[in-house]
Amino acid sequence: MMKGTILVNAYADMPSLTEQASRLKEEFTKAGAKVSVVKNDDYSALCAKRGLLTKDYGDFVVYLDKDKYLARILEKTGIRLFNRAAAIETCDDKMITHVALSGVVPMPETLPAPLCYTNNAVIKPEEADKVISVLGLPVVVKESFGSRGKGVYLARTKEELLSLMNVLKGKPVLYQKFVEESAGRDMRIIVIGGKCFAAMERRSDADFRSNIDLGGKGYAVTPPDEYVALAEKAATALGLDYCGVDLLYGKDGPLLAEVNSNAFFREAERVTGRNVARAYVARVLDVISSKNVREGL
Ligand SMILES: Nc1ncnc2c1ncn2[C@@H]1O[C@H](COP(=O)(O)OP(=O)(O)O)[C@@H](O)[C@H]1O
Ligand SMILES: [Mg+2]
Repeated sequence: MMKGTILVNAYADMPSLTEQASRLKEEFTKAGAKVSVVKNDDYSALCAKRGLLTKDYGDFVVYLDKDKYLARILEKTGIRLFNRAAAIETCDDKMITHVALSGVVPMPETLPAPLCYTNNAVIKPEEADKVISVLGLPVVVKESFGSRGKGVYLARTKEELLSLMNVLKGKPVLYQKFVEESAGRDMRIIVIGGKCFAAMERRSDADFRSNIDLGGKGYAVTPPDEYVALAEKAATALGLDYCGVDLLYGKDGPLLAEVNSNAFFREAERVTGRNVARAYVARVLDVISSKNVREGL
């Protein structure tokens, strides 16, 4: 019997995460695999002296977290992570994702804010002018590490931009062209094993951000070929087994906003009727069993 681990964060107790883990566990059990849910604060898992695992994580880990340290330690022991540690790290940082995908898929024009290591720095009005001269107004400001719409802002004026720049200066941030045609809506495509598995449009009447957590609603859609191709290309380029790709409706076609290595699938399952958890589980078991065959296990 195949055995594995679902890894979750010790400090995150949102129902969406608990539900994600339990849906996957349910589908693993149906597929005849045994998995346990483990948190990333289990120090007993590590033997500090040798840096080796003393805990048996099984044949694979479905890593529903972004803790890059434990991810790397686990991979170093030879266990296969879903997603792989490098892919999770790339997706966690929106600017790194942008660099990794530039020249690969179309994205809105994006500038990284120069990293600032001191809280005493004052951002001058000329800095805002520089950003506006390239990206115009309004302009999107994003914390490079953020999710569920929380770290995404729209600056409508130079003053708003400058004040955001000053508030956020201690954090990695990017500036991005506002895709006006897409305000309040985007397309979320779930890609599993490099293939589009489910797609929904998300719409919000209240906000330019269409995230479900901020009141956006999901609607099943049949994505145009161009959208499918873009999402699959991004997922493959980043080496993701599973992800949710957020696409904006640009006037000349889709533009990639970000890639979520740990995308919650509840809304996508509800809206599309597709069994995302089962497909993800099938992908994991396929990869592991073909690996075992190759290695003669
Ligand atoms: N450049 C943009 N132009 C217009 N809307 C955007 C842009 N970038 C993001 N959005 C909107 O904001 C939402 C959140 O942005 P996203 O980059 O996906 O960050 P998060 O990780 O917080 O979901 C997107 O789903 C989309 O609705
Ligand atoms: Mg998003």
